[in-house]
Amino acid sequence: MSILKIARIGHPVLLKKTHELKDIGSEKIKKIVYDMSETMIDSNGIGLAAPQVHLSQRLFIFRNPDIEENEEIQITALINPIVQNLSDDTNEAWEGCLSIPGMLGLVRRYSKIKYSGYDLKGNMISNTAEGLHARVVQHEFDHLNGILYTSRLTHKDAFGYADEIEHYWKKNEEK
Ligand code: NI
Repeated sequence: MSILKIARIGHPVLLKKTHELKDIGSEKIKKIVYDMSETMIDSNGIGLAAPQVHLSQRLFIFRNPDIEENEEIQITALINPIVQNLSDDTNEAWEGCLSIPGMLGLVRRYSKIKYSGYDLKGNMISNTAEGLHARVVQHEFDHLNGILYTSRLTHKDAFGYADEIEHYWKKNEEK
């Protein structure tokens, strides 16, 4: 396995619409997913999409954020995914992205979603998700369509360096 270079905002690969994968279940895709997993863990991320490692393909991985702290990390790979909202309910939260290191932005997402796609073996998988799990899947799915969270900010000023956001925004939210 190896750690891959992560594309940062400004790189055109992050703005391109991606291609469907045809060789699902192949050794090549397994290797990509293993390398992406190692890269995500190394960077302490909770999700990573193929365009972020310079591959314009419809594939992303994410950690299940619902598991307890002492449980083993579970990583799901989703190939050629489909994501749908299950209701019109939305919520706002601060998001980061490994392609926009050190920054956070306030983004509105659907609260409850359904997703499906293929796993590494080529089996169809589907699941529902709420809360952070739903947010991560929507964020990664956006990457496959060349969309970064910076184009989904709830308002244009709700973006900045994580420590400034913690200091000037999150403190006020807690009041
Ligand atoms: Ni991202």
